[in-house]
Amino acid sequence: MFGSSTRTALAAASLLTVLGHKSAVMAQDNSNAVVVDGKTFVLNGDNVSYQFRVNETSGDLLSDHFGGSLDGSMFDAPPVEALGGWVGLNGRFRREFPDHGRGDFRIPAVRIRQSEGYTVTDLRYQSHDVIQGKPELPGLPATHGGEDDVTTLVVHMFDNYSSIAVDLSYSIFPKYDAIVRSANVTNKGTKNITVEALSSFSFDFPVEDLDMISLNGDWAREAHRQRRKVEYGTQGFGSSTGFSSHLHNPFLALAHPSTTESQGEAWGFSLVYTGSFSVDVEKGSQGLTRALIGLNPNQLSWQLGAGETLTSPECVAVYSDNGIGGMSRSLHRLYRNHLIKSKFAISDRPVLLNSWEGLYFDYNESTIYQLAEESATLGVKLFVMDDGWFGDKYPRTSDNAGLGDWTPNPERFPEGLSPLVQDVTDLKAGNTSTKMRFGIWVEPEMVNPNSSLYREHPDWALHAGPYPRTEQRNQLVLNLALPEVQDYIIKVIADLLDSSDISYVKWDFNRAMHETPSPSNDHAYMLGMYRVFDTLTTRFPDVLWEGCASGGGRFDPGVLEYFPQIWTSDDTDALERVTIQFGTSLAYPPSAMGAHLSAVPNAQTGRTIPVTFRGHVAMMGGSFGLELNPAELHEDEKAEVPGLIALAEKVNPIILTGDMYRLRLPEESNWPAALFISPDGAQAVLFYFQLRANVNHATPWIRLQGLDPQAKYTVDGKGPYSGANLMNMGLQYTFDSDFGSEVVFLERQ
Ligand SMILES: *[C@@H]1O[C@H](CO)[C@@H](O)[C@H](O)[C@H]1NC(C)=O
Ligand SMILES: *[C@@H]1O[C@H](CO)[C@@H](O)[C@H](O)[C@H]1NC(C)=O
Ligand SMILES: *[C@@H]1O[C@H](CO)[C@@H](O)[C@H](O)[C@H]1NC(C)=O
Ligand SMILES: *[C@@H]1O[C@H](CO)[C@@H](O)[C@H](O)[C@H]1NC(C)=O
Ligand SMILES: *[C@@H]1O[C@H](CO)[C@@H](O)[C@H](O)[C@H]1NC(C)=O
Ligand SMILES: *[C@@H]1O[C@H](CO)[C@@H](O)[C@H](O)[C@H]1NC(C)=O
Ligand SMILES: *[C@@H]1O[C@H](CO)[C@@H](O)[C@H](O)[C@H]1NC(C)=O
Ligand SMILES: *[C@@H]1O[C@H](CO)[C@@H](O)[C@H](O)[C@H]1NC(C)=O
Repeated sequence: MFGSSTRTALAAASLLTVLGHKSAVMAQDNSNAVVVDGKTFVLNGDNVSYQFRVNETSGDLLSDHFGGSLDGSMFDAPPVEALGGWVGLNGRFRREFPDHGRGDFRIPAVRIRQSEGYTVTDLRYQSHDVIQGKPELPGLPATHGGEDDVTTLVVHMFDNYSSIAVDLSYSIFPKYDAIVRSANVTNKGTKNITVEALSSFSFDFPVEDLDMISLNGDWAREAHRQRRKVEYGTQGFGSSTGFSSHLHNPFLALAHPSTTESQGEAWGFSLVYTGSFSVDVEKGSQGLTRALIGLNPNQLSWQLGAGETLTSPECVAVYSDNGIGGMSRSLHRLYRNHLIKSKFAISDRPVLLNSWEGLYFDYNESTIYQLAEESATLGVKLFVMDDGWFGDKYPRTSDNAGLGDWTPNPERFPEGLSPLVQDVTDLKAGNTSTKMRFGIWVEPEMVNPNSSLYREHPDWALHAGPYPRTEQRNQLVLNLALPEVQDYIIKVIADLLDSSDISYVKWDFNRAMHETPSPSNDHAYMLGMYRVFDTLTTRFPDVLWEGCASGGGRFDPGVLEYFPQIWTSDDTDALERVTIQFGTSLAYPPSAMGAHLSAVPNAQTGRTIPVTFRGHVAMMGGSFGLELNPAELHEDEKAEVPGLIALAEKVNPIILTGDMYRLRLPEESNWPAALFISPDGAQAVLFYFQLRANVNHATPWIRLQGLDPQAKYTVDGKGPYSGANLMNMGLQYTFDSDFGSEVVFLERQ
């Protein structure tokens, strides 16, 4: 039996007890967001229910349901019977938070080593609390919301033998059909314990066929969508690089084999974390499928002294019966409104030009100003000076020196950055009266051995005792687990931002972590990094921060909480970008994606693509920019750029706030397309592409989604046509060559 001194009267509640905020004057009625009927807990969203209960005999938590809405009535299912064979009852149940060593042979959500060496845990229900709103997660990024947006259920569990306590925290955002879970482990005993594995979310699906969908890739090839059947046994992915990585994104979707982009059930799990992670999907001998997502056990081994707590990152789980697209839109809305804290989350982003592909390391005060001047002429609103501006004794004129020394290169900037920043911010963008803004690139978590910082503090770089410090791109990673390193970074970046009128920062991170002092250092690093991000973004709320890790190496919700946009990939080839950006949109709102029009032949692929197609692909990202030297553009390209900038500015508000419908996928069709619809439904913009010429073959109609069938819409001023016709019959366009593209505006009448 579980403890009798529960704070919420469990035994007394044989009647349905409805807990939750209820007020007649509230526009949003969350009154049934969390329903407790004594032994059963139900979290209800507009179109989702999540149910689990306590086995009253054993105190174990059993999963019942994660899917479409339930109404409280429940079929009295026959009890799970112990059958012959070696798998005991625990191995046959759908377990809500599977612990280790009690006859469940599937992967556990928690594994703890005690000082005696035991790894058995026996976590039983103790009590629960319901809280309006959502408490912060100490030291970690997390979704947030007020009492009207979110309700939290905390279930307290306890292992009597070891005195280990686990609190499971569930928050439901009813409007988003999103359930957020995290777990914390507290050592209430007297001897040390080591947490070897801790999942943020775990769910046991009933017996049914499932596909799993994930995003894999590598540097310059991020977010390629992969869909495979869940088979008996374990299948999973993760990152052990010390960062969320280009290799696998911390995101998992499960769906029925018949689920498509627009139809069928889909579940999305998105981990709000930037470090090493792991995703395991295991179809056990009984045919039940377990999904686990959380910290990577290979880089955890987290020691807890008496009274200490380890808090897992949180994982957002969404459910949709409108296909993979519906799942993505729930995540997008939640992240736009309840994760990204920046004031720029849904406000127009200035069109920028980044100097990297235009000049690389090769510039000085006058040549960089020239680039800014040419950018202004084209209508660019924000000029970004990328790598190459810093380093005093060890000037950053190539990638083999300077990282760590964030002072302007005195040869390139004899009077510091202020004169340049002043000159650039005096420029007017295009023919407007808008003053140009100035942005800067930094990579503060890194150090080159060729730097004053490294000469002074060699111990600040990550290293494992006597083992060689392997360099990548001639650089080492600073150990952000150390408070003195965090303080140094906060100080140098704050000083830089205080020194002149800098309104944008691109925060880069260009190598993986190798030799680390201990497995737990990975998570300690993350806690330190989040402290740095939190301190700086709180202190400089007017700065537009962009995350970057050699492109999309840290495209994750943990970074998004602090930085409203992330550089999606170092691959700026527009054809590659169609796949990468469609893939990234599986979990992340288009508002979060940085996307630039770059020069041809493309620096990564050597491919030459027309400027219009390049511009159209880039403006599907919330932060549109140029990544080139205008002086090197062909005349006809140059003539088109101001028009593309104007178009990007016109579509930007819809991209930032609207719902995205992936109408056709680049991996399935020669004609990928996406529709973005403004939140009020009054405006929409269609992006429609032809990848390769289509000789002697009819072109397909493109059928729209998400419109009001009754309403009438103009299509680029033509029409009006009914929403029903546009969705059921569609639109047709023809293209006569490779890389054709259309950007089409719809207005509701
Ligand atoms: C939820 O269901 C209602 C009624 O079926 C529907 O109108 C609404 O669009 C659904 N919401 C979402 C986010 O799917
Ligand atoms: C509850 O747990 C007991 C003891 O393990 C077990 O015998 C029983 O079948 C369980 N009941 C349910 C409904 O799972
Ligand atoms: C745990 O210990 C408490 C107090 O000794 C007891 O009341 C409770 O029944 C125990 N719970 C389990 C699951 O053994
Ligand atoms: C553990 O989590 C619960 C639920 O979020 C919270 O109430 C509690 O304060 C946490 N404990 C610590 C030590 O952070
Ligand atoms: C117990 O854990 C604490 C906190 O991590 C640590 O400082 C201490 O050295 C550990 N003690 C032993 C005996 O390992
Ligand atoms: C900047 O570089 C350009 C081109 O290399 C050169 O002509 C110019 O003299 C340099 N200006 C300064 C101030 O060093
Ligand atoms: C340090 O910088 C010097 C001069 O630029 C260069 O020759 C050397 O290779 C660099 N060393 C390393 C380890 O990158
Ligand atoms: C500014 O005006 C000139 C003359 O009308 C025009 O050629 C140029 O394209 C305009 N620039 C922008 C960025 O719109």
